[in-house]
Amino acid sequence: MARDQKDHYYRKAKEEGYRARSAYKLLQINQKFKLIKKGDCVVDLGAAPGGWLQVAKELSGGMVVGVDLEAISPIPGVLTLQADIGKEETLDLIQEAVGGNADVVICDAAPNLSGAWDVDHSRSIDLSRSALKMAKKLLKPGGNFLAKVFQGDMFLDFLSEVKREFEKVQAHSPPASRKESAETYIVAKKMISGPVKIGDVYNLHIESVGHSGDGVALIDGFAVFVKGAKLGDDVKIKIEAVKRNFAFGKLINRKH
Ligand SMILES: C[S@@+](CC[C@H](N)C(=O)[O-])C[C@H]1O[C@@H](n2cnc3c(N)ncnc32)[C@H](O)[C@@H]1O
Repeated sequence: MARDQKDHYYRKAKEEGYRARSAYKLLQINQKFKLIKKGDCVVDLGAAPGGWLQVAKELSGGMVVGVDLEAISPIPGVLTLQADIGKEETLDLIQEAVGGNADVVICDAAPNLSGAWDVDHSRSIDLSRSALKMAKKLLKPGGNFLAKVFQGDMFLDFLSEVKREFEKVQAHSPPASRKESAETYIVAKKMISGPVKIGDVYNLHIESVGHSGDGVALIDGFAVFVKGAKLGDDVKIKIEAVKRNFAFGKLINRKH
């Protein structure tokens, strides 16, 4: 028997009217991480044949836009574009379709497999990186992002790139991913919109002291809390964590 004929999620998708078994991956990921909420505007990159689009529409009921190199046969209430997510001009097409900012960007894009592992891994990372680039332009502050990646030696670097842009990031493989599959999903919540990123180093002046006794410096009006720094200190700090309205900096050295 062919693998798909005995696959539980393949049969379930057929019975429940989803176009692809991958629909269950998004359902399971959303159940655990609550990325898509009612009313959200969702952009799906690499969306054909449309299983995720069906699920996204059910979950949000709001505007859903799907993009793929392949044509996607119509889904009620879903807008589709035939375009390459690696091309700059595709962003303009999506922005025009969305007419504002999106709440969630999801990407299940996969390259045509060559069979050479490092080539496929590197192409998968390229697609995910294109999706991240688009998400940064499309999402509203606090928006959510989900991307598939084939694991390999570039995975951790890409994970760090996502961590610089979102408050909460983790890798997750839903039960509907095949056990033998090397794919995993990066689940990223709450896009950071402030001027600082994790790992940035700054020379700052401590202008005030917070309730907890931490020194507070401002970067373009954005507060950075520095443990161990005193009022009036000139400090060198490294950004360790970024929240929606403030960040934490680790003291590297201080002059009073
Ligand atoms: C695994 S399928 C997506 C399945 C989809 N999530 C669903 O539930 O139906 C991966 C898709 O990525 C698309 N893709 C690959 N490279 C792309 C690119 N550069 N731009 C747009 N789509 C791309 C492929 O055409 C393919 O349809």
